[in-house]
Amino acid sequence: MTLLIRVSKQGQRKAFHNPLLYRFLSESTDLRKGPESKEGCSWLYGSSQEILSVVRGHVEVRHNFISEEEENALFKEVETGLRKKRYEFDHWDDAIHGYRETERLQWGLKCESILKRVREVAFPEGSPLLGPIHVLDLDREGYIKPHIDSVKFCGSTIAGLSLLSDSVMRLVPENKSTDWVDLLLSRRSLYILKDDARFKFTHEILKEEESFFSGRKVPRHRRISVICRNLPV
Ligand code: OGA
Ligand code: MN
Repeated sequence: MTLLIRVSKQGQRKAFHNPLLYRFLSESTDLRKGPESKEGCSWLYGSSQEILSVVRGHVEVRHNFISEEEENALFKEVETGLRKKRYEFDHWDDAIHGYRETERLQWGLKCESILKRVREVAFPEGSPLLGPIHVLDLDREGYIKPHIDSVKFCGSTIAGLSLLSDSVMRLVPENKSTDWVDLLLSRRSLYILKDDARFKFTHEILKEEESFFSGRKVPRHRRISVICRNLPV
């Protein structure tokens, strides 16, 4: 499945690997009263109003998209496939660090009905979907480096459920690496990235040391994502 993604050349943006500088950037945006506070959007935060207006309509996070019971059902079903694998830590050039993954085509009734809801809200009607669902298990120490999902294998929309932990997803425009947009992916939320946010921005999941949202620490635990994608047209 790592075939589906490529690491961005901007992976070396030193500024964002320095938590102090990152906090500083967050605070300065705070002082300017970012759009986040203006529109009461609790999951979106960025380096400027302009960059937020670029992604608006192309990103969405729905908090509590699934219940605790549904999270449990998904966890139980994916855990059997994951248990057989070991976490990968050593490949320094991988886009993902500290992870194991699996794919699942057939789901039990309960999980299938959750995935049906995801498809209904995330994808345009009739959009052909990638058959297998991607399940990615990030260790507490794991993180995902900036990358863009393969345009050859995946279409315009990526939708992911987050299990077990909150986390921060950062989007950075490919053509302006000083701008950034952070999404707070709360446990049991659904995120949707589409069109420009999917094609023109890299996305990444911040590591524990850098996991802040709007200046607030977002502790990272083991996190499992269940990701649906459509096919390119
Ligand atoms: C990926 C990816 C994000 C997530 O696997 O390409 O970006 O939510 N995953 O795990
Ligand atoms: Mn990705």
